[in-house]
Amino acid sequence: MELSKEQIKQFHEEGYLFLPEVFTPEEAKLLKQESENVYSMNRKEVWREKTGVARTAFAAHTYNEGFKRLGAHPRLVNPVKQILEGDVYMHQFKVNAKAAFDGDVWQWHQDFGTWNRDDQMPEPRAMNISVFVDDVTAANGPLLFIPKSHKFGVVEAGHDLETTSYPLWTLDRAKVKELAENGGCVAPTGPAGSMLLFSSLLVHASPPNISPFGRTIVYLSLCHIENHIRAFKRDEWIAHRNFDPIIPMDDNCLTELAIKNQTAAE
Ligand code: SIN
Ligand code: MN
Repeated sequence: MELSKEQIKQFHEEGYLFLPEVFTPEEAKLLKQESENVYSMNRKEVWREKTGVARTAFAAHTYNEGFKRLGAHPRLVNPVKQILEGDVYMHQFKVNAKAAFDGDVWQWHQDFGTWNRDDQMPEPRAMNISVFVDDVTAANGPLLFIPKSHKFGVVEAGHDLETTSYPLWTLDRAKVKELAENGGCVAPTGPAGSMLLFSSLLVHASPPNISPFGRTIVYLSLCHIENHIRAFKRDEWIAHRNFDPIIPMDDNCLTELAIKNQTAAE
């Protein structure tokens, strides 16, 4: 899959790009099963809300076959290589649940703010590409973006050690208001299998999910190989240290696994 010149232009202009239904319902179903598998594991990488439901499974591509394949999927890796203009490595991999009724807030932040301050990633030559594992709607805690907010570099932030699942550099309300007066605030929504690309400088957040519907999204945070992190104070499974370029797998790698699983179940 290749992004058009127009799509790349839109990404740079707005700071994000939404591509509906890039993965088939069957591929999304496999990812849903794999999410449930990782959330049922008792591992240090799986973080939970106060109620015990899963919030985030970090580095799931290192202990789950479906996510291993997703982490090297050409529909994810190739568009990012186009935007970042070169080979990329996996800086972070998250399966974020935002569970029905209990999924809690993610405060306003820029990912590069944390990657730069905590991991000494030199430049914002890194970004997120995400896949909706569930339908994402206005009701179930969608991501909120401030379009064009990536154009202001790293903005001032405070180290939030309390309200987020792990220490995050978050923006104060006055800054969020100022940026939103310029760019507005949007919540890209769509069916499972849709894809969302966003700049590591884009200001984003997500509200709690009080709806009865879960909202799982997988995030690959990919970084240009020359721009790898210089500091290693966070755990390896939060800020990865393998800077090898990702070699994309075949386009049918998820379908192949779904068929294999189906055959094994029969
Ligand atoms: C994030 O900002 O890294 C995650 C937000 C979300 O999944 O709602
Ligand atoms: Mn983020």
